Amino acid sequence: MLTVNTLFELQTAIKVWRLARESIAFVPTMGNLHAGHLQLVNVAKTKADRVIVSIFVNPTQFGINEDFDSYPRTEQEDKKSLKTAGADLLFLPPNTEIYTPDTQTIVSVTGISNRYCGASRPGHFDGVATIVCKLFNMVQPTIAVFGLKDFQQLTVIRIMVRDLNIPVQIIGVETVREPSGLAMSSRNGYLTAEEKAIAPLLYQSLINARDTILAKYLPYSKIEQQALGFLQQAGFQPDYFSICRRSDLDNARQEDTDLVLLTAARLGKTRLIDNICFRKSLE
Ligand code: PAJ
Repeated sequence: MLTVNTLFELQTAIKVWRLARESIAFVPTMGNLHAGHLQLVNVAKTKADRVIVSIFVNPTQFGINEDFDSYPRTEQEDKKSLKTAGADLLFLPPNTEIYTPDTQTIVSVTGISNRYCGASRPGHFDGVATIVCKLFNMVQPTIAVFGLKDFQQLTVIRIMVRDLNIPVQIIGVETVREPSGLAMSSRNGYLTAEEKAIAPLLYQSLINARDTILAKYLPYSKIEQQALGFLQQAGFQPDYFSICRRSDLDNARQEDTDLVLLTAARLGKTRLIDNICFRKSLE
């Protein structure tokens, strides 16, 4: 596996593959890689001739009081995992290779970026859309692979690609979970032992709500309230719990069949997110 830090080296490597007419799959990450990230690499390998992974802790998607400084940086371990997983190239740029000091352009997917996680993290999805758009322009991949774990992020990226006619195919990969059901996340490392025992209840709240929706008629607002109560009881400070239409993340109506339940909650100092997708049949 080749590791490069500059755009010049990245594009030199890519040029050779393009001349050989090899397809490129791209997996953008912020590092501190776990089995969820590596599953994206595995899927990418089945979809293209070459797999490029980037590790860049993107400052513009963190709020001023968020964890940019403490975000775990584990480059040596990450390199080993990517080599074992069979990635072809790791792009590990410094900040100066990505942003010029007088950067003036922001990519903003308006509307959806201000809801759910965007409501409590203003500017977060502008930071995500901007860096992903920039990385797409740098790598120009055939396909790009993202986790369903960050469902709203995936939706923002799909809309951006559609609206800006970016020639890349976006692939979503199922969330990889701990045996307890807890979705794997670089931020799980912030949890204390006591919090780690409570954390799987976030996924449980999604399963409970899904089972209620599938079992009987209850207004969705009632199910959302029950879920928020369940999370509070368990020791979380819930941010939101929303029953949404999978296609556009608008609030679901009873007649919608493709649903996604989105939730975010704080456990101590750690903000956790999770979601579950399912189909409801109309009888
Ligand atoms: P990061 O949190 O490092 O995640 C990188 C990719 O891994 C994302 O597509 C995310 O959805 C996926 N992922 C994370 N946990 C997962 C899990 N348990 N199962 C499956 N996939 C999982 O998301 C980002 O970085 C950044 O916002 C980024 C897109 C790189 C832009 O900076």
